[in-house]
Amino acid sequence: MSAFTPTPEDRFTFGLWTVGWPARDPFGDASRPPLDPVESVHRLAELGAYGVTFHDDDLLAVEPDRDKAIAAFRKALDETGMKVPMATTNLFTHPVFKDGGFTSNDRDVRRYALRKVIRNIDLAASLGAKTYVCWGGREGAESDAAKDVRAALDRYKEGLDLLCSYVRERGYDLRFALEPKPNEPRGDILLPTVGHALALINELEHPEMVGLNPEVGHEQMAGLNFVHGIAQALWHGKLFHIDLNGQHGPKYDQDLIFGHGDLKSAFFLVDLLENGGYDGPRHFDYKPLRTEDPQDVWASAAANMRTYLILREKSRKFREDPEVQEALRASRVDELAQPTLAPGETWTDLAKDDFDLDAAAARGFHFTQLNQLALEHLMGVRG
Ligand code: GCO
Ligand code: MN
Ligand code: MN
Repeated sequence: MSAFTPTPEDRFTFGLWTVGWPARDPFGDASRPPLDPVESVHRLAELGAYGVTFHDDDLLAVEPDRDKAIAAFRKALDETGMKVPMATTNLFTHPVFKDGGFTSNDRDVRRYALRKVIRNIDLAASLGAKTYVCWGGREGAESDAAKDVRAALDRYKEGLDLLCSYVRERGYDLRFALEPKPNEPRGDILLPTVGHALALINELEHPEMVGLNPEVGHEQMAGLNFVHGIAQALWHGKLFHIDLNGQHGPKYDQDLIFGHGDLKSAFFLVDLLENGGYDGPRHFDYKPLRTEDPQDVWASAAANMRTYLILREKSRKFREDPEVQEALRASRVDELAQPTLAPGETWTDLAKDDFDLDAAAARGFHFTQLNQLALEHLMGVRG
């Protein structure tokens, strides 16, 4: 078995809505038939995945009866040993959510949205999910006159506080993960970036129960550095889950295969996830290209995992390379971990420094060499 063949120990997971996307887009009809979630569970298990995740509505792709659909899904999980580490709610497809779920101007819709989430939380908990994602794609506006953003944030907080209290009362071992996105489908979405979402969490009644599910493409759509966003989420102890995929810079949400967008960023992301203390599932939220046939879908699922494993190996070789270690020292990357003041020092000690301003200004950091070494590892000419 090749080193790049995934096994459940790698903890790769896929949304049922990813492989199951029939490729309907704003300009064209579906290019693939609906996919039975039961088939997805079996196929992904055969490919070496650890589990699947789902929106409440994903289970109904080919079987409209909820109880029958859940029973078939459970059977597939039992037969394959596949896990469900995360679940989420569809608060965006039905036209009732056209102005949002938790923050719709229509109070009746907000109450319906919360009921819909609660119903699926019960199912998620019974399947052993530990994370419940909230992606508020319809929470937003196209006109600044149409949405009182401060009131909307009050309602966002009210909704999340209510869901946390529900989970506590039921005694579920479940935490929430907010998924930021700057736009699409709304012109502007609330909680557009990792930073906005982190700030909201601090205002909640149970901030310890709420973290993040950042998605590669969503930060990159806003021109932001995803690796930095993930590093900050880790620093706050808030990286509860992650959506891996690919994106080519600021444009519509491409949801490409992991690594098929900005490969260099994907390399540094894997390097950070593997060395930065993240121990959750490696979850793919991508869309198989609309050009692909049902067989190609499985090749695309395999490509996500294979790319991750290749980058994991590249990261290991990069860290082991003596020239890289030397370049890291030359760039004084480790010096940043040293506190600026020594133990017991105060601001008064700063004045005592014997500091040569010109010499310090003249010192280079040699970051170019470090970056070139990373690129050479990535391009396969080293290690
Ligand atoms: C998107 C989002 C969604 C969410 C999913 C889970 O841009 O469409 O990434 O795929 O991740 O709805 O909440
Ligand atoms: Mn996306
Ligand atoms: Mn996502």
